[in-house]
Amino acid sequence: MTLSSNGQHSKQEWEKNVEKTMKRFPERSRSFHTSSDIPVDRLYTPEPLSEDYINQIGFPGQYPYTRGIQPTMYRSRYWTMRQYAGFGSAEETNERFRYLLKQGQTGLSVAFDLPTQIGYDSDDPMAEGEVGKVGVAIDSLKDMEQLFREIPLDQVSTSMTINAPASILLAMYIAVGENQGVAKEKLTGTIQNDILKEYIARGTYIYPPKPSMRLITDIFAYCQEHLPKFNTISISGYHIREAGSTAVQEVAFTIANGMAYVDAAIEAGLKVDQFAPRLAFFFNAHNQFFEEAAKFRAARRMWAKIMKEHYKAEDPKSWKMRFHTQTGGSTLTAQQPDNNIVRVTMQALAAVLGGTQSLHTNSRDEALALPTEDSARIALRTQQIIANESGVADTIDPLAGSYYVESLTDQIEKEAGAYLDRISEFGGAVQAVEEGYMQREIHQAAYEAQKRIESKEDIVVGMNEYQLDEEIHADLLKVDEALERGQIEKTQQVREERNQEEVDRCLQELREAAAGQDNVMPPIVKAVQAYATVGEIANILRDEFGEYTAM
Ligand code: 3HC
Repeated sequence: MTLSSNGQHSKQEWEKNVEKTMKRFPERSRSFHTSSDIPVDRLYTPEPLSEDYINQIGFPGQYPYTRGIQPTMYRSRYWTMRQYAGFGSAEETNERFRYLLKQGQTGLSVAFDLPTQIGYDSDDPMAEGEVGKVGVAIDSLKDMEQLFREIPLDQVSTSMTINAPASILLAMYIAVGENQGVAKEKLTGTIQNDILKEYIARGTYIYPPKPSMRLITDIFAYCQEHLPKFNTISISGYHIREAGSTAVQEVAFTIANGMAYVDAAIEAGLKVDQFAPRLAFFFNAHNQFFEEAAKFRAARRMWAKIMKEHYKAEDPKSWKMRFHTQTGGSTLTAQQPDNNIVRVTMQALAAVLGGTQSLHTNSRDEALALPTEDSARIALRTQQIIANESGVADTIDPLAGSYYVESLTDQIEKEAGAYLDRISEFGGAVQAVEEGYMQREIHQAAYEAQKRIESKEDIVVGMNEYQLDEEIHADLLKVDEALERGQIEKTQQVREERNQEEVDRCLQELREAAAGQDNVMPPIVKAVQAYATVGEIANILRDEFGEYTAM
């Protein structure tokens, strides 16, 4: 095909995709204009379309997806406004969920407390002082039912930030759906379920890598069969960045982890085009505006090429990197908290111009405490103002063609690719993690960044420049200390009221599945339906798999 005909061919294919998409997702408006009534086109491209443009940048909704994964992107549907929320008891968090949904949030995102995330019940000595602190305390299905009270699970998608015990909380979500009369096949949402970044950066792991990878692929296999609309993993770069990595390392280490999960699933006998469409990603939106927007474009293109060329995936859904973004928590300052509203706005804008599918905007007070209702509302309003007032969502990937952004996109792809080559020399991400390679790279980057701040080479407004003599902090959210006692009593009551023989039978079935090769999800679903607790189930797996201790 000659240059122009190849370009014309791609453009026609895109136009066909647009027509098809609009049947399910018509555009938000019949026409889009600027304030001066200048029409805003769906997409702007160079004329003629060069070979390089087609191969490297292309059209939205088309391989290699540099410009976005949907043919019409936000012209049809804004990104999901999905605020991470959870603290205290299930009842308190349910109230916050319903408040945020009432304020216009379009997806849910559950923050669990540390005991839940590390598989301990609230009355476990290990949980003391942490119950309900950094997220909601979930011990049994009773808590999960309260968490989603008056929230119909067939009308909302829910993300759960849960990793080592992901199978347990997913099972509880399935059980809540069934109790609401929602079949599991209808459930939509995501479990984070990304254990490698826990070893690298976040720390809420329980079991050693091998059994952890097995738990993850058991979930892939189970969801493939029973929860076709549920995203089985959110391969996360967010925490890697929060630990101090650079943007290039965030992309590289996240994609390396993603490849390790694909390898593990294939090794477990799964077919790439059956599980890959439900892999999802999660990135940070940090301060350097253009680098962040370019980072998302580079990551999307890299993943598309890896899935198509390296894994030979044939279904275009396997090539699309769908991701959630959270603005960078580590950029928030405790000093002059209102300044954080400005930081979050710029970071959110970078994520939108980078084509995110879902977005959490941090609250101004999160360097000091969990967000108050007012702060959480301002954070959500930030997204709504970008979406409805700035015009940036009215044309697709508007930064494309910028000499700077395209050069950054290419450079990030190149440098992240070099990291992937180094990681493959270790034998892949699991081995690189076990050798501490990624951790060392991140620590070095964090150290250098800290030195730049201390030398004032990098200015952090309000913190190392433009300080106030006196800091006044508005009222902060306080988690009621009495909550821990109340949660413990509630869980003890669940244990007294349940059918203990049924629980024992279910836990024994789980033990046999874990010790053998059977998928652990079915016995875990039965166990939670019998009101076995997170800790009891996680402890069965501790017995069978052991616990991981970092080097
Ligand atoms: N054209 C056509 N179709 C469109 C469209 C468009 N313009 N826009 C959306 N759609 C379709 C999608 O294809 C999808 O349909 P499908 O499921 O049939 O394909 C549907 O509309 C929903 O769209 P998305 O899937 O794009 O949006 P979701 O919000 O449902 O999913 C996701 C986004 C990234 C795929 C998903 O994995 C997700 O929601 N992730 C969120 C993860 C999250 O919130 N994590 C929080 C972590 S907090 C944490 O860890 C930090 C703490 O430790 C501090």
